[in-house]
Amino acid sequence: MEAPRRVEHQMTDKGYVPVYTTTVVEQPWDQYTADDHRTWSILFQRQQEILKGRACREFLENQSAMGMSDARIPKFEELNQHLIKATGWRLVAVEGLLPELTFFQHLMNREFPVTWWIRRPDQIDYIAEPDLFHDLFGHVPLLMNPVFANYMQAYGAGGVRASTFGNEPLANLTRLYWYTVEFGLIRSEEGLRIYGAGILSSKGESIHSLESAAPNRIGFDVERVMRTRYRIDTFQKTYFVIDSFEQLFRATVDPDFGPIYYHLKGADSVPAGAVLDTDQVDQRGSGEGWLTDGDV
Ligand code: PHE
Ligand code: CO
Repeated sequence: MEAPRRVEHQMTDKGYVPVYTTTVVEQPWDQYTADDHRTWSILFQRQQEILKGRACREFLENQSAMGMSDARIPKFEELNQHLIKATGWRLVAVEGLLPELTFFQHLMNREFPVTWWIRRPDQIDYIAEPDLFHDLFGHVPLLMNPVFANYMQAYGAGGVRASTFGNEPLANLTRLYWYTVEFGLIRSEEGLRIYGAGILSSKGESIHSLESAAPNRIGFDVERVMRTRYRIDTFQKTYFVIDSFEQLFRATVDPDFGPIYYHLKGADSVPAGAVLDTDQVDQRGSGEGWLTDGDV
């Protein structure tokens, strides 16, 4: 087998663009350098500290239950033994971002693609695309939770199906992923907590999402989320809050999205920072620091 590559954004005549890869590789564990392990260790310790009392209990408990620690970059095969037993999910190593359909197909088969390489030391605080730390630290612990694990599989199947309906349904579904799997907040008995991987793997956003007065925090509603644009280059202007993973499951897995896609077709999208009359508002954001352009 060929040695796995590290595929990052590349400069082209269209600017700095993501590059898509499709190959599944063996995690080349022996190739990690001392710097790689140190980067994992630094980020792991830092996030563990910040996430106490901020990440949801299901995330923190499962992360230690599956044996992830700061000691070294985990071996996917070792994590897989725990995952397979808990929910039947399995990690597969990839070289970078996957095309949408390929990604959906993996999820549908209960395979979670994890970028095998970790950011360089000079990228500790920011990297444009998902790396090992984001994918593994952020996404994988909740795959141990049966309800969330089923949601992820159903999302993959829903994505394969939406691909046959065209671009708008796909955009609707991508927003759902963004505002739940990547940037979701959840209510708990102890207060508001984080479950979205994009937040969990970011020091700044872990604090911002829960404690800043700038963003909106709005009760989760599927259609509202599917209409809402988002930011890829700054903290989110809006976070959507679920009551439980069961609520998320019931609102998304059971209903047939066909009629919803149809209903949303041609409708205006909602700007990332907007608050609507129909929203259940936990916090109306002050909007401090918001850029006025650039919602995706
Ligand atoms: N129920 C959705 C459909 O009919 C599929 C889906 C499930 C989407 C879970 C997102 C999350 O297409
Ligand atoms: Co992610």
